[in-house]
Amino acid sequence: MQPPETLRTFIAVPLSDDIIRELDKMQRHIRHSAPDCVRWVTPPNIHLTLQFLGDVLLERLSLVREALTVVARNMQPFEIQVKGLGAFPNTRHPRVVWVGVEDTTSWLALLQTTVEEAMARLGFQPETRAFSPHLTLGRVNRGVATRTASELGAVLEATDVGLLGTMKIEEVILFQSTLKPHGAEYTPLARFHL
Ligand code: 2AM
Repeated sequence: MQPPETLRTFIAVPLSDDIIRELDKMQRHIRHSAPDCVRWVTPPNIHLTLQFLGDVLLERLSLVREALTVVARNMQPFEIQVKGLGAFPNTRHPRVVWVGVEDTTSWLALLQTTVEEAMARLGFQPETRAFSPHLTLGRVNRGVATRTASELGAVLEATDVGLLGTMKIEEVILFQSTLKPHGAEYTPLARFHL
């Protein structure tokens, strides 16, 4: 019997062209100054993840769409600030390099909680870690020497990043993520206007 058809999906907020341009500049700066040990996300692919759903049965996608339509209808557009540079779990042992998001109105947290609650009603497990909004610039290669990773961390700490920009959040996108040898490809499946 064939395995059931699924799509690997996640829910995210797209970024403005101005912010993408700033993230591109930031990536170039780090790439120029730090050891070559990171798989960088192509700037137009950088996004603000609200929830990773993983493999979803094709037949369940319409329920996800309907739920996101309701969530978006009940929220209005709001602003966030993009500022700061850091790493998960920390800059001494960087695994994920990110630019920060400041939720000045607390509406982003509300949007993320509302999405997560709507998805929980459909059986998708909420993330156990607290929501920590960020824009992933790149992921450190597996097996990188501790010393190399901490050199990268030192560059991140030494990079002075103020406010990169302010952005109005006006839509949420349900994305498909396709894993390819050169990295994941993200395809919008549906857009939901706030
Ligand atoms: P990120 O938000 O830190 O970049 C698509 O894979 C997006 O979903 C990525 O941007 C990724 O992280 C986020 N994500 C969260 N949990 C994930 C998981 N378990 N596997 C893959 N991606 C995950």
